Amino acid sequence: MNYPVNLAQKPEVTPFFDEQTNTISYVVKDPDSASCAVIDSVMDIDYAAGRITYDHADRMIEHIRDNNLTLEWIIETHVHADHLSAAPYIQEKLGGKIGIGEKIMVVQETFGKVFNEGTEFQRDGSQFDALFKDGDTYRIGGLEAFAMFTPGHTPACMVHVIGDAAFVGDTLFMPDGGSARADFPGGDAGVLYDSIQKLLSLPDEMRLFMCHDYGPNGRDIAWETTIGEERANNIHVGAGATREQFIAMRTERDATLAMPRLIIPSLQVNMRAGELPTDKDGKPMLKVPLNGL
Ligand SMILES: [Fe+2]
Repeated sequence: MNYPVNLAQKPEVTPFFDEQTNTISYVVKDPDSASCAVIDSVMDIDYAAGRITYDHADRMIEHIRDNNLTLEWIIETHVHADHLSAAPYIQEKLGGKIGIGEKIMVVQETFGKVFNEGTEFQRDGSQFDALFKDGDTYRIGGLEAFAMFTPGHTPACMVHVIGDAAFVGDTLFMPDGGSARADFPGGDAGVLYDSIQKLLSLPDEMRLFMCHDYGPNGRDIAWETTIGEERANNIHVGAGATREQFIAMRTERDATLAMPRLIIPSLQVNMRAGELPTDKDGKPMLKVPLNGL
């Protein structure tokens, strides 16, 4: 695949860090117009209380309103397992199209079964406004953007490249953070390695923006790096680590990781493009499948 890289376009990127889930959401703005996009928004949940709030999303909405921006896209890099998306809430307030990779259908099929959803849960991605294929292009005002298929962490992961800025989702972490786990249903360490190599074939000076950072070894939270930095220094894939080395490291490490605290609510909400699931009476309600994950 020959991707339409355009380093001459330099979007303005505003990060919004969520302390609860160590997620970084972004507003990406066209420098030459009022158009913007939101990447990987967060809806707040107090899981113990079953309470949903919108402080994080409201901060982004306020930023967009204060700067008189037009929201054109609300992008999900993948179905997150550790935080809930606020895409529909933001769309209701500001408009914009909600987009995700077309392989969402694979994820919906898998977790439709896990959560024993009925036929009213569509597995065709129709909850989203746009389903991206590898290499699909779109625009944010005058900015040219494209989606790059990067499965491995999940089967539907996509990196979104907007001008000289790439939003990597969970394909990569900061160089000292390595890579994301590949042991969720549909994940695959070898496939993740191949996706990372594809991502690292982009130009060295491409800016990369992480979806997560956990401040390894006590350093401050960080979210921005470059392709060149990752290729040289990433502790899992940098400096020529082989596919076999990566698979061995990832498999060993993933076996030690607990499930993310919010995986049960996250999957049910995010596979619906951020809509809350409901019970037979239409009340918002989550399920907890026992021994199902
Ligand atoms: Fe993820």
